[in-house]
Amino acid sequence: MQVCHTVAEVRKALKAAKRPLGLVPTMGYLHAGHLALVKRARGENETVAVSIFVNPTQFGPNEDLAEYPRDMKRDLRLLEEEEVDLVFAPEPQEMYPLDFSTYVQVERVTEQLEGASRPGHFRGVATVVAKLFNSIQPDRAYFGQKDAQQLRVIRKMVDDLNMPVDIRAVPIVREKDGLAMSSRNVRLSPPERTAALVLSRALDAARALYDDGAREAQRLRDAMRAELAREPLAKPDYVSVADAETLRELGTIDRPALVSLAVRVGPVRLIDNVTLG
Ligand code: PAJ
Repeated sequence: MQVCHTVAEVRKALKAAKRPLGLVPTMGYLHAGHLALVKRARGENETVAVSIFVNPTQFGPNEDLAEYPRDMKRDLRLLEEEEVDLVFAPEPQEMYPLDFSTYVQVERVTEQLEGASRPGHFRGVATVVAKLFNSIQPDRAYFGQKDAQQLRVIRKMVDDLNMPVDIRAVPIVREKDGLAMSSRNVRLSPPERTAALVLSRALDAARALYDDGAREAQRLRDAMRAELAREPLAKPDYVSVADAETLRELGTIDRPALVSLAVRVGPVRLIDNVTLG
C-alpha cells in the first residue's frame, strides 16, 4: 500500500494503475461504515484508492474541526488489512494553498437540511470532492447513504459538470443497538451514547407508521418529534420527510421519501436517515 501526501505523488503513483480505479473519500478515524465502502470498492475495482483528509472548508467557524478525531496510524493499518492500493493523505496547505480561490457551488439540493443548518458546508464538500476527482481521476467513487444529502449533492455535481465518475451508494452501517456508525460517536459519554439511540428509534417510529399505511408526511414528523421529546439529552435540530430526489419537504408521501433528522446530543451533532418507498 502506497501512501501519498501530494497530488504530484498521487498522479505519478496512479499513472499506470490498472483500471477500473475506485476511490473512497473519507475524513479518517475509520470505522466499519467506512470499511463497508472500502470492501465494496475492493470487490468492484482493480485498483482502490482511499483519501483521508479532514477538509477544513466544510466545517463552519463554530463547528468541531479542531475536535474532529484523528488516528492516521490506526487508519493506515485498517486500510492495509483491506488491501487498499493507495492512500492519499494531504496536508491542508496541499489542498488549499494561500491563494486558493475556486469553489464548487451546487444549488437547490444544498439549501435545506444539513445545508440550512451548516451554511457553506456543501460548498466545502463539493469543492474537495471535485479536487479529489481531478487529482485521482477514479472511474468510480463510493459514498455512504449515511450522508444522504451529501450523496445527492455529489451526484448533482457530477451530472451537472459532466464528471466522468460513476457514483456508487453504500447502505448505512449501524452498531448492534441501531446507532448509525460515525467517527463522532467516540465523543459521546456513556449516558449520551445511550441517549443517541433516540435517532434510530425516531426513524423506526416513522417507518412503522409508513408501513401501517400512513402517507401524510406531517404524521411521520410529529411521531419523530414525540420520540425525540422523550429523551432529555437530545436537542433536535431538524426532522424531515422530503422528496428523495429534490429534498423538498413532502405533504403526501406519494414518491420515494428521505426521512432524516439531525439531533445534538452533548457535544456532538448526529444525523441519521431512512428512505421510504
Ligand atoms: P466521512 O464522514 O469520513 O465519511 C466518509 C464516507 O463514509 C462518506 O461517504 C460517508 O457517508 C460514509 N459513511 C460514514 N459513516 C457511515 C456509515 N455508518 N455507514 C455507511 N457509510 C458511512 O463524508 C465525509 O467524510 C466527507 O464529507 C467527504 C465526502 C470525505 C468530503 O470531505
